[in-house]
Amino acid sequence: VPEMITSKSDMRQWSRVQKSLGKIVALVPTMGFLHDGHLSLIREAKAHASTVVVSIYINPSQFARNEDLSTYPSNLEVDLQKLTAIGGVSAVFCPENIYETASGETKDGRSEERGDLVSCLEEDGGSGHETWVQVERLSKGLCGKSRLVFFRGVTTVVTKLFNVVEPDVAIFGKKDYQQWKVITRMVRDLDFPIKIIGSDIVREADGLAMSSRNVRLTPQEREKALSINQSLSQAKCAAEDGQHSCKKLIGLVVEKIIEAGGEVDYVEVVDQDYLEVVEKIAKKPVVMCLAAWFGTVRLIDNMEIHIP
Ligand code: PAJ
Repeated sequence: VPEMITSKSDMRQWSRVQKSLGKIVALVPTMGFLHDGHLSLIREAKAHASTVVVSIYINPSQFARNEDLSTYPSNLEVDLQKLTAIGGVSAVFCPENIYETASGETKDGRSEERGDLVSCLEEDGGSGHETWVQVERLSKGLCGKSRLVFFRGVTTVVTKLFNVVEPDVAIFGKKDYQQWKVITRMVRDLDFPIKIIGSDIVREADGLAMSSRNVRLTPQEREKALSINQSLSQAKCAAEDGQHSCKKLIGLVVEKIIEAGGEVDYVEVVDQDYLEVVEKIAKKPVVMCLAAWFGTVRLIDNMEIHIP
């Protein structure tokens, strides 16, 4: 049974004890409502470390005020059962509020601002927190375009988790491809002594990428959402068969998503290192990234394409 830790100072102390015993500490940050995608990261963590810490925290600063923080699913009890069942998790870090928001601070009028520019952490005005970590260029494209506060919130909370847990290794899923790249860049730019590992996407049997948000799809929407993986797979095949125009490949995916009844946020082909737009598929490995709405649920997925 993993140890349950809720305070930042207990967490840091616990981790330091582990390290003094010569253990390699791995951190798997999550927002809970765990599925097999999360569990595969834990398996990856076990391969790289002797002590695995899983954090569960729904981070308000990465949700804009008009996004789905209030409906984000959670079930800590089931999460703990899953973590106990898979074994090898030494501690679960569930900070009640990692920002230690000071209550009773005066409002500063932010609530008048656009909902997509203000995160849920700041919605009441003064939040007791005003320092942000931002990876400038990599956070601008893809998901950064439609989620203006998202990556700033992710990099800031992950920095806090890194500073509290002090892991040697941290595991991120390639399902959130841009997030993985942004964190890798942050760790490099800010000299965190932490190795970042990207772990492969885990899919349902029918191809839908696992996501905590999938439970919010109606059965009809879930069916329609299969068009995401299907169209990405078709585009990959088309590329391998000689269709090297990214415009054509993107057109193919957009058409399938719309045909299925989804609403496309973006479909882009970018290089795997810098996430810069690519026009023609050549030797350099690329990744086709997508975000689309099915009903009130925004889903993301991606497919790496490499033509040898
Ligand atoms: P969350 O969406 O809970 O995801 C936690 C980790 O699980 C992320 O690294 C994500 O990429 C990975 N993951 C999710 N679904 C996956 C799948 N189907 N296959 C493989 N990996 C998958 O991402 C976050 O939380 C947050 O932004 C966080 C990093 C915890 C910061 O708040």
